[in-house]
Amino acid sequence: MSRAHDEIKISPEEFRLLRDLFNQHCGLQFGPEARLSMERRLRERVVVLNLHSFGDYYAYLRSNSRGRAELEEALDVITVNETYFFREDYQLRALRNEIVPMLVRGGAAKGRLSIWSAGCSTGEEVYSIAMVAREAGMTAAREVRIFGSDISRRCVVAARKGIYGASSFRVTPPEMRRRYFEERQGAWHVTDELRALCQFGHLNLLDASRAAVVGRVDIIFCRNVLIYLDEPSRRKVIETFYERLLPGGFLLLGHSESLLNVSTAFELVHLREDLIYRKPAAKLRLGLREPLAALEAVRAASISSSGIPRVLPPGAELDPAARAAAAGADPRLAPAASPPAPRPGAASSQDGAAQVKAGSEPPRAMPAFQKPSSSV
Ligand SMILES: C[S@@+](CC[C@H](N)C(=O)[O-])C[C@H]1O[C@@H](n2cnc3c(N)ncnc32)[C@H](O)[C@@H]1O
Repeated sequence: MSRAHDEIKISPEEFRLLRDLFNQHCGLQFGPEARLSMERRLRERVVVLNLHSFGDYYAYLRSNSRGRAELEEALDVITVNETYFFREDYQLRALRNEIVPMLVRGGAAKGRLSIWSAGCSTGEEVYSIAMVAREAGMTAAREVRIFGSDISRRCVVAARKGIYGASSFRVTPPEMRRRYFEERQGAWHVTDELRALCQFGHLNLLDASRAAVVGRVDIIFCRNVLIYLDEPSRRKVIETFYERLLPGGFLLLGHSESLLNVSTAFELVHLREDLIYRKPAAKLRLGLREPLAALEAVRAASISSSGIPRVLPPGAELDPAARAAAAGADPRLAPAASPPAPRPGAASSQDGAAQVKAGSEPPRAMPAFQKPSSSV
């Protein structure tokens, strides 16, 4: 007989064991303040499995033949899945007005435009991108494919269903909801027209080899995901993105996220309302690291000056060139002759060049990713 719900408490040692297990598996980091919320979220699992303690639960995850499946159940409850349609819509405007036109000018996205929403939660980001693509007429000129992936199976199932309640529409223009959703029994169902552009799959972003199922893409949205990962995991994920992006492809992060201290392999691109990252179209230029470090500071400065709060990753600090850039100097004039010492773990320009080479496989379909079902 299992103990009463509330009696099952997580000890600091049990918290440490579980936290490290989750961190190893998918990079999520939990500070000491997360102990009680982990207790609250996982207690149900301990009870359902008829276990006596979080120590037993840890042992189950590690050694039971169903431990792997249980880990997925745990991830469903410990991940933060907050999302809604048209979140951070200045990036969606940029997609339509600046990013796709830049790709087209560069000779890309002619026959097909592939976009990956990495960490898509319940799918609102994917369908928002699809609405923008439809509205902008992108789908008339080319085949548009938007892939959504998440580590939470519950989220992927919900994304495929495409049925949403009012809170998902908190900032959605009413005409968009009317055009792309059908109301049935108090919930809004994504129309087949939108579904046809979208596919969803289960993916741990730390699993670089499985990420290959995404194929090569023109644009990656990974917003409000990296903030939950520790620094080594962010680096791994960004390396995977570099690998998956076609040369000249774009990476968009959330407003509080940046590549400072994570990677120097990308170029920073100034847009009207944002600064985003681009995989260099050709070989990486030598000395890219200095301008990029400085440009990062410009990104930080310009984002905060537009009133959007910005949080640097833990431990992030600006180097002198970056500070000068933030103070108004043109970072592109930063001397290239004496590059600063690489930050520990930062990708070198040689790493970048190797990744460019490795990324020469052609785009291909994503067999593991499925279209949302229209019969729900
Ligand atoms: C806060 S949501 C962001 C959703 C959406 N991108 C947005 O900005 O509205 C973060 C999502 O990242 C997912 N996630 C966290 N770690 C992940 C990992 N290692 N691999 C894949 N997805 C992950 C979580 O499951 C969660 O659904």
